[in-house]
Amino acid sequence: MKKYLLAMAVISHFTLVGCNSEADRTLTTPNKDVSRTSVSNTLWHDDKAKMDAFITELMAKMTLEEKIGQMTLFSSDWDVTGPSLRGDYQDKIKEGKVGAVFNAFTASYTRKLQKMAVEETRLGIPLLFGYDVIHGHRTIFPISLGESASWDLDAIELSAKVAAAEASAEGIHWTFAPMVDVARDPRWGRISEGSGEDVYLTTVIAQARIKGFQGDDLSKPDTVLATAKHFAAYGQAQAGRDYHTTDMSDRELRETYLPPFKAAVDAGAASFMTSFNELNGVPASANKYLLQDILRTEWGFEGFVVTDYTSINEMVNHGFAENDEKAGELAVNAGVDMDMQGSVYFDYLAKQVEQGLVSMQQVDKAARRVLEMKYRLGLFEDPYRYSNEEREKAEIYKDENLQAAQDVARKSMVLLKNDKQLLPLSKSGLNIAVIGPLADSKEDLIGSWSAAGDRYEKPISLLSGILAKVSEPAKVQYAKGASYEFNNQDDSGFSHAITIAKQADVIVMAMGEKWDMTGEATSRTKLDLPGNQQALMEQLKALGKPMILVLMNGRPMTIEWADQNVDSILEAWYPGTMGGPAIADVLFGDYNPSGKLPVTFPRNVGQVPLYYNMKNTGRPYSKDSAEQKYLSRYIDSSNTPLYPFGHGLSYTTFAYSAISLDKSTLASDGSLTASVEVTNSGKYDGEEVVQLYIRDRVGSVTRPVKQLKGFEKIWLNKGETKTVSFTISAKDLAFYRQDMSYGAEAGEFDLFIGTSSDNLQKSEFTLSANSDL
Ligand code: BGC
Repeated sequence: MKKYLLAMAVISHFTLVGCNSEADRTLTTPNKDVSRTSVSNTLWHDDKAKMDAFITELMAKMTLEEKIGQMTLFSSDWDVTGPSLRGDYQDKIKEGKVGAVFNAFTASYTRKLQKMAVEETRLGIPLLFGYDVIHGHRTIFPISLGESASWDLDAIELSAKVAAAEASAEGIHWTFAPMVDVARDPRWGRISEGSGEDVYLTTVIAQARIKGFQGDDLSKPDTVLATAKHFAAYGQAQAGRDYHTTDMSDRELRETYLPPFKAAVDAGAASFMTSFNELNGVPASANKYLLQDILRTEWGFEGFVVTDYTSINEMVNHGFAENDEKAGELAVNAGVDMDMQGSVYFDYLAKQVEQGLVSMQQVDKAARRVLEMKYRLGLFEDPYRYSNEEREKAEIYKDENLQAAQDVARKSMVLLKNDKQLLPLSKSGLNIAVIGPLADSKEDLIGSWSAAGDRYEKPISLLSGILAKVSEPAKVQYAKGASYEFNNQDDSGFSHAITIAKQADVIVMAMGEKWDMTGEATSRTKLDLPGNQQALMEQLKALGKPMILVLMNGRPMTIEWADQNVDSILEAWYPGTMGGPAIADVLFGDYNPSGKLPVTFPRNVGQVPLYYNMKNTGRPYSKDSAEQKYLSRYIDSSNTPLYPFGHGLSYTTFAYSAISLDKSTLASDGSLTASVEVTNSGKYDGEEVVQLYIRDRVGSVTRPVKQLKGFEKIWLNKGETKTVSFTISAKDLAFYRQDMSYGAEAGEFDLFIGTSSDNLQKSEFTLSANSDL
């Protein structure tokens, strides 16, 4: 199994630029010959002493206001995701009171702003440019949830790498990604921005993304700083309503929501973003338990912490601070280094330091952390190194990037259903009706949080993808048919859709959600197809023709009717700029689908939250006990999901052997190997995601019915067999025990390997003794 522990290296030589006087230029120039070493659990390297000296010298020259400037982030007025609080940010840059700007990009614009900082301020400290580069910058890849469905860490890392290359060429130094919030409630629109419901999967994907963004050397101009967000537990907003309260036990917090953040620290993430929510009564942006006890003390995080957008100010609404000023004091004293857009540090911090409410030491620590990242990026050496017009021209939308986007998109698609092997379709001889509001849409393809991606010209629609694929384009007919707008029941397009469907051999329906129905502030109470898409599907069904549903959406949907009535269903998410060709590759068999769901699809909203690794309860329901009443079940719905976590079909089939274990007892300091043989028993070459789950049968606290502990994506030619082995040790069995100590408990374990969380071979082993970790 691939492990994604990041070995990072840093810049090796610096000169200070932008100083206005000769005296300022006497700062130490770091040694040019420092060799790079790598460490796994820290951001710093063997030139730390030189960096420290450089920054100490710089900070000795800085006024309190200039230090607070390093703690201040304002949005450019280009592209705000909330109210812009400071239209005059450019003047403030020139005064040295703004250290970082977001929503500003292009080589020329960032160069212009950088020039203000470097040439017009007293010390010439360069700006840091941030932006939400979430799933691509200009070339847009599938939404993060979609990419996660690939279970392909190399593909995910590549996507982040391409995004970093494009963004950094346009002057961006810092992305507000990855989002590593575990999310189990599909009503929450931001489920689309993460890696789904599972802790392990989210953790390894977080590390792959950080590695893709940051590379192994931040001084390389094609890398950007990563941000692990939103710290913490934002994904558990009550009732799936965005920004809502979270309240949970420490055990749940530590077992489910924190591990991906810890993994982000281990991978060297440069920054953390606080979340909007309160956690157990304390807003995340003033939460000392999260920001000090856990992040700094337990985990040793050495990067900087930024708030989410105006989340300091929002503590007034939370009822945690009486005004912005007090909120700022609470935030800075809790360990928030940078205020995003709130203007609170900018307005009040100097006064608070003078009054002794905030220590100078706290301000120094925060400013230093930000300056360190600027140093590591090489900005003191050349503040314009990322604002490179030539590189911008060459990098943006280059063929290689578009090809990568197409490849990652097809890897992200999940074949949910394929009765009678209707898919793949033949490229010739078929009359195809392509129907639905997403069939010829470009704007929806790139989904939400699509950075600087072009929404209207560049994306290639599904219809175009199909037309380019078939040998007789004249046999393809298109009708939009229905609407995906919530309240639009206008069925005037139905008759045309039905007419072309009648002439067709096969109907391909492209339906789902409009792109802005997922992402931030897009919580839903229903998870069905919006508008009158369902009604049109039902009328098309009456024609009795083979039907394929291509879904584009950013969350699990309740599509039980489609599951029962449509022959084949392909979950394509929002697949990105190259979405159309990527879907066509899958529909016509140029790519054999290999995606697996990173999140459970419920049958109905009433089952939510529904995830594979729930607890068994004292009255578990099973098919064998179906006649009994007093069991943990619904009387009007099955307990089972429509499509479980880990589910995803292929055009071929994979046969699993029984599991073989090299031993039946695992010593607390030893390891055990579990192997299966997987055979491609079908007619196509293809990839399979072999999944490992473990259940701890009895614990000092109850354990989930199973937990993903590993996976491997393998390629098998038809007829080929491969042995897949997983090594398990006590650390894979560890959890927070009754006394909150972390470790594994001796006893019996079930071990499962298979193709989906509900389709597994089973074995068992014993852990001989407790193990403290
Ligand atoms: C979002 C963040 C994002 C920030 C900056 C906020 O509204 O919650 O995820 O990074 O805006 O655009």
